Amino acid sequence: MTITTAGPDIVDAGVPGPEWAAEVRRLADLRGATLLAHNYQLPAIQDVADHVGDSLALSRIAASAPEDTIVFCGVHFMAETAKILAPEKTVLIPDARAGCSLADSITADELREWKADFPDAVVVSYVNTTAEVKALTDICCTSSNAVEVVESIDPDRTVLFLPDQFLGAHVKRVTGRTNMHIWAGECHVHAGINGDELTAQATAHPDADLFVHPECGCATSALYLAGEGAVPADKVKILSTGGMLDAARTTGAREVLVATEIGMLHQLRRAAPEIDFQPVNAKASCRYMKMITPEALLRSLRDGTDEVHLDRAVADAARASVEAMIAIGTPGGGGE
Ligand code: 13P
Ligand code: SF4
Repeated sequence: MTITTAGPDIVDAGVPGPEWAAEVRRLADLRGATLLAHNYQLPAIQDVADHVGDSLALSRIAASAPEDTIVFCGVHFMAETAKILAPEKTVLIPDARAGCSLADSITADELREWKADFPDAVVVSYVNTTAEVKALTDICCTSSNAVEVVESIDPDRTVLFLPDQFLGAHVKRVTGRTNMHIWAGECHVHAGINGDELTAQATAHPDADLFVHPECGCATSALYLAGEGAVPADKVKILSTGGMLDAARTTGAREVLVATEIGMLHQLRRAAPEIDFQPVNAKASCRYMKMITPEALLRSLRDGTDEVHLDRAVADAARASVEAMIAIGTPGGGGE
């Protein structure tokens, strides 16, 4: 289906205005589509979407939405997860080149080899993985439920946790599990938020809360600071993007230092305008997330591109691992 739209000048010099938003909504209605946006999307994309949330919350919304078409403003593994959960729906991502350095850090062949070394292990994969990797996984997790997922596994079984080393280290620390092997992958954006920056900011803002995404290279450092008494332990919160929004609504702090991708600040400031949210690293921007431009969203709605297609057998196997996670019950956060 191709739909007639206003010309490209509707996005003036990259800054979309009310005409762009009205055109997006008109085209979404014509296509019978719902628009989902991850918390790291550009503010204009978040504001025009039907739902904004973390990766798990959005996938669940995609599966239960009454619309037949999902336009997923996020990165490719997220749109794939929506397609895995809703195979009968048309899932569009405005730019299929929007990948993820963390998902790229393990291939299906590498996982097959790792599994061969530990044939009795339970494989736990973060949702930031390709559908092929999910298909080789026993149970998926996200940053909002990784601890619960690992705790749900028989303590006598060896766990292979992938691909994020920092999230893995966090889960290992919290669960105290020793029979857990962790893949050495990382997200280039979060690995770049380091302990030195966090220490400097925490020292400069002694009354601020610290919201830290567990993918951060600084997660260990934040806990170290707390352990040393440099930052009161109750000020350090290791949270998924959705968890940060929930915490923003309840914290008594007037200032919060945020250690994650900077797109997150938009939803946090909307959720709690009275709090001063500041990034630990103002340059922590995910170039893949920002490939979903206002122009790309218009093009997607007009031309029905880029559609996500998955091999049936891969999708079925991947669905089992995602549904095993959902059965554990944490809904994800920040979806509205
Ligand atoms: P969430 O699962 O917290 O939404 O994070 C996804 C992600 O890509 C973090 O970099
Ligand atoms: Fe992937 Fe990192 Fe971007 Fe999240 S911030 S989508 S983990 S590259």
